[in-house]
Amino acid sequence: MRGNEKVAFTAEAVAFMRASKNVDKFSKYFVSKETEKKFNFFGKIVPKSYFDRVFVKRIGLSRELDKLMRGYKPEQIVELACGYSPRGLVLTRRSSKLVYVETDFSSVIERKRAILKKNGIELKKNHHLVAIDSVKDDLSKKLGRFFDRKKKTLVVAETLTMYLNDEEHEFLVENIKKFLESFKNSAYLSHEGKRMLKRFFGKLLLFYRNVVEKTKSHRHFRDAGKIKSYFLGRGFRKVLVRENEEISQIFYLVEN
Ligand SMILES: C[S@@+](CC[C@H](N)C(=O)[O-])C[C@H]1O[C@@H](n2cnc3c(N)ncnc32)[C@H](O)[C@@H]1O
Repeated sequence: MRGNEKVAFTAEAVAFMRASKNVDKFSKYFVSKETEKKFNFFGKIVPKSYFDRVFVKRIGLSRELDKLMRGYKPEQIVELACGYSPRGLVLTRRSSKLVYVETDFSSVIERKRAILKKNGIELKKNHHLVAIDSVKDDLSKKLGRFFDRKKKTLVVAETLTMYLNDEEHEFLVENIKKFLESFKNSAYLSHEGKRMLKRFFGKLLLFYRNVVEKTKSHRHFRDAGKIKSYFLGRGFRKVLVRENEEISQIFYLVEN
């Protein structure tokens, strides 16, 4: 099995949203002319107010994950499917003790590295970028060397699971569970969308993403109860679930 690398384009779309809302100082470097053109094209069809709502919700999703991460207080973090997220850059600039490993397809990791270099942005010593296909590579083998088994460790996946079919999702969870087993204190943090984009413009954007860019999305859990039983059934010890109606997401932090 291997992941669908066509999904990689979505990482730039998220960088565009963050850059257009001035969320951080890094995202603007990851937006290519081609992505700008695509958004300009859709900007002629889709009302600005609709785009604004989508952008604000997407940024809200990152902020909720940030909050849950802070609450867990990890000493080591693996970010799966990091895309061009600025989180690793921001957090390792705040703390030199936090170990932060970002992973994504090799094409994304190479582009991220090249853009950081071109713009003179250095990775701190405690920050690493590693090429990993989350539904193919063994996380324990690829990541073991970066981590201290005694330290509190968190795996986070922001908008990854929605691009995986059931078989890939099952593989991912087993892969994460096996990786977390080697730590005394560890957890996995992710989320599930409650609804697809709505109304005519939502359907239009989804059509573009699914059919033109060939990145179909999937749902894995119908409600919070299903999330709890799924992870408890796979040997996780404790499941914390937080629903956020405003951004239509259910967040889950599962402790190993
Ligand atoms: C919507 S983007 C989100 C990127 C980032 N998490 C953020 O919030 O900015 C989805 C990301 O998932 C990555 N991805 C999808 N399937 C993957 C897989 N099997 N292995 C690694 N990365 C994957 C894509 O390359 C892309 O960077």
